[in-house]
Amino acid sequence: KERRLILAIESSCDETSVAVIEDGNKILSNIIASQINSHKRFGGVVPEVASRHHVEQIIGCMEEALEEADIKVDELGGVAVTYGPGLVGALLIGLTAAKSFAWANGLPLIPVNHMSGHIYASRFVSEMSFPMMALLVSGGHTELVYMKEHGSYEIIGETRDDACGEAYDKVGRVLGLSYPSGKEIDEMAHLGEDTYHFPRAMMKEDNFDFSFSGLKSAFINLVHNAEQRNETLDNNNLAASFQSSVIDVLVSKTIRACQEYDVKQLVMAGGVAANKGLRERLTQAVESELVDVDFVVPPFKLCGDNAAMIGAAGFIEAKKGHFADWSLNAKPSITL
Ligand code: KG4
Ligand code: ZN
Repeated sequence: KERRLILAIESSCDETSVAVIEDGNKILSNIIASQINSHKRFGGVVPEVASRHHVEQIIGCMEEALEEADIKVDELGGVAVTYGPGLVGALLIGLTAAKSFAWANGLPLIPVNHMSGHIYASRFVSEMSFPMMALLVSGGHTELVYMKEHGSYEIIGETRDDACGEAYDKVGRVLGLSYPSGKEIDEMAHLGEDTYHFPRAMMKEDNFDFSFSGLKSAFINLVHNAEQRNETLDNNNLAASFQSSVIDVLVSKTIRACQEYDVKQLVMAGGVAANKGLRERLTQAVESELVDVDFVVPPFKLCGDNAAMIGAAGFIEAKKGHFADWSLNAKPSITL
């Protein structure tokens, strides 16, 4: 039987990643070069710095991915690449590498939307079953996506202001944590309790949209007012209070969306899907309120940005015959 192998490239933000995927759900290699240490001192990702790092890293990542997968280039069936959404300069590096490699080796080019990649990371855990709901929570996105079948995406709700991960990173800055602070706040939250009772925005509203800027402002005001009065707050309790507000809203809207759309499967994906508190609470809620729904979350390493997920989504695109020509360009703000 012929092996169906895809080389996948991801460079939309601050990780340069190249993977080799077999049959859309087996990882032969998944090299991830993070640039986080170069961005930390700026408190966020600096687009120029990101592009430069991608240029420096991409070839090495490609060589390493091919070597670790232990395959010959002529065994590959295609090259999948993220073309958006993301930072335009960063996307262009991955795109240029993918096009050059595909052209030089006579391989088809498979365009992949970064957000569909996050959803398809679930394929490394289990097959998809439809209809499906995806809760996408990352540094740039917070949305509920309804999928009737492969390749069909309906955004039924999204954030009206900050993305969930963005709120984590902004309150982390106020606590003096380094960027990105989601993971550290998650750890602190486990040591504290919800003593500050922040608002739960839009939780009772009859829609599937989210809002995190009010929570962020309430948090920042509380900390600043305390500083002015020379009061000390308990940072673990602050983290726990912030996190329980975020989780309450995400869990209640996600459960309601699954009920209303009568889905068979729920997938949670994106960087914030690595949140331990959120994983626990959503697992419990699904068990008690969505008896027949299969809940799938990718392993921690596949929640953040990586090329393996791009290969998984690319495999499905290729099966549908969705290829791109050499004019494929970066689309920084494309939606699903
Ligand atoms: O998907 P991702 O790697 O990049 C984007 O496409 O945005 O997500 C990064 C985001 C950051 O905001 C980071 O703080 C957040 O995911 N994050 C977390 C956790 N791990 C990463 N947020 C909450 N809890 C975590 N454990
Ligand atoms: Zn992402």
